[in-house]
Amino acid sequence: MKLTINRDLYSVDNKDANRKLLWFLRDDLGLIGTRFGCGAGICGACTVLVDGQPRRSCITPIAAVADGPSIRTVEDLAATGALHPVQQAFIDEQAPQCGWCMSGQMMVAVALLENNPTPTDSEIEDTMTRNYCRCGSYSRLRRAVRRASDLASQ
Ligand code: FES
Ligand code: FES
Repeated sequence: MKLTINRDLYSVDNKDANRKLLWFLRDDLGLIGTRFGCGAGICGACTVLVDGQPRRSCITPIAAVADGPSIRTVEDLAATGALHPVQQAFIDEQAPQCGWCMSGQMMVAVALLENNPTPTDSEIEDTMTRNYCRCGSYSRLRRAVRRASDLASQ
């Protein structure tokens, strides 16, 4: 099998078909920006994008995203050397508190803005509350996504 991750192609042995994507990213590739939280598909800390849609990598078997789909992790956001507007906005609004949930939150925000560049506040809240933030940073997250939307449209 082949996995396309951040535009690079990786070979994976067929015996790993049921292994979860999160552990391939973290343990095999060292892409430790994708976090482990609940391990049960609930919290969203492990969110990556698969063909532009958020996906919880802790419950995603490698075979389900092999041979075609494009996987993006948080490491891809600054691949050009400059911060992504979402990263800059999260910093500007001081969205991270402990930071545990933030890579997943950023990937959800990126997917939202790529699909809907000018979301309403309620669309932002609906989306950003699907991922858990134990620090309760939701109002900062809403402001950060609003700021990222404004930054991207300048
Ligand atoms: S660690 Fe994957 S959803 Fe919580
Ligand atoms: S910033 Fe601490 S869990 Fe979200």
